[in-house]
Amino acid sequence: MLNIAQIGVGYWGPNLLRNLVSNKRCEVKKVVDLSPERRDYVRRLYPAIQLSDRLEEVFRDPLINAVVIATPVATHFDLAMKALEAGKHILVEKPIATSLEEVDKIKEQARRANLLVMAGHTFIFNSAVRYVKKCIDSNEIGDVRYIYSQRLNLGRIRSDVDALWNFAPHDISIIQYWLNNPKPLSVFKQGVDYIQNGIHDVVFLNIVYPGKIMANIHVSWLDPRKVRTMIIVGSKKMIVYDDVAENKIAIYDKGIDRMAVLGENMDYDKPFSLSFSHRSGDILLPTINFQEPLKVEIDHFIDCIENGTECITGIDHARKVVEILAS
Ligand SMILES: NC(=O)c1ccc[n+]([C@@H]2O[C@H](COP(=O)([O-])OP(=O)(O)OC[C@H]3O[C@@H](n4cnc5c(N)ncnc54)[C@H](O)[C@@H]3O)[C@@H](O)[C@H]2O)c1
Repeated sequence: MLNIAQIGVGYWGPNLLRNLVSNKRCEVKKVVDLSPERRDYVRRLYPAIQLSDRLEEVFRDPLINAVVIATPVATHFDLAMKALEAGKHILVEKPIATSLEEVDKIKEQARRANLLVMAGHTFIFNSAVRYVKKCIDSNEIGDVRYIYSQRLNLGRIRSDVDALWNFAPHDISIIQYWLNNPKPLSVFKQGVDYIQNGIHDVVFLNIVYPGKIMANIHVSWLDPRKVRTMIIVGSKKMIVYDDVAENKIAIYDKGIDRMAVLGENMDYDKPFSLSFSHRSGDILLPTINFQEPLKVEIDHFIDCIENGTECITGIDHARKVVEILAS
């Protein structure tokens, strides 16, 4: 049985806490939050959990094996390092840190202490995202040509990070996972701050990968509609993944094929023109057995610690996400 402490129970932390509490393979011993209101919130729901505003109570407790960090991004590095120095495994919310230098220090400390670092890239544990990965890996959609993603809302505006660092870790992490963590050839981004000086409300990010694979990510908290859509165009089929739709995945048997030309490349005297056929077949709406992603994420965290399972959102995955964000 793993003894867990959680730091931070603001907006997102309660979702993690609920899944930790309901997991029979771990016990949440302590929760630390600087805010008395947030500690009260936890006290009312989970009276058995010890509450504190002092981090040392977690780091100095030899019974705590692992720490879940769900505080604002700027605090991740400091808290992650302290937890590792105290000998605790860590699950850190996304993005894991604010720069590559920070990520590398976390990685080195974890290596030295032989501890697990996992990033809370929740979408990698989402059944729909995993379904798309299977379609790509099995070559059902052919070669991936390009992917575009929109994560938009008239939403909760943050002042500590911009829309890119707040939302795009999800899209980048998903695309990297689908494509087996390639190194981009180029990254270009453009964003504008309309509401708060220096904090981009809307950002367009373009990534070019080897093999002519292109990705475009559009994130914004200044948009009339809530959109969570990713489109994957393959050489054989195309997938629409809409995270807010009832049918989250639609596979379109659509494409453009070059038609074979009789005698092509044989009669060198006669120029020939290329012909194309537009393929427009069925649309498949697969049934997906959906599990709460955070439940799967926490099970994976425990498996990695207890059974040495390779962590799919470990430090190397998290590093690539930060590298693209910081490019
Ligand atoms: N995986 C997801 O889908 C998802 C969704 C939302 C947020 N997040 C991530 O979760 C993290 C937290 O985001 P949030 O929206 O919950 O933020 P928040 O500001 O609502 O909550 C943060 C909480 O941490 C507490 N806190 C701050 N500094 C602390 C410290 N040093 N020690 C102890 N407590 C401290 C605050 O009092 C607050 O209660 C961020 O990294 C964010 O990117 C992830």
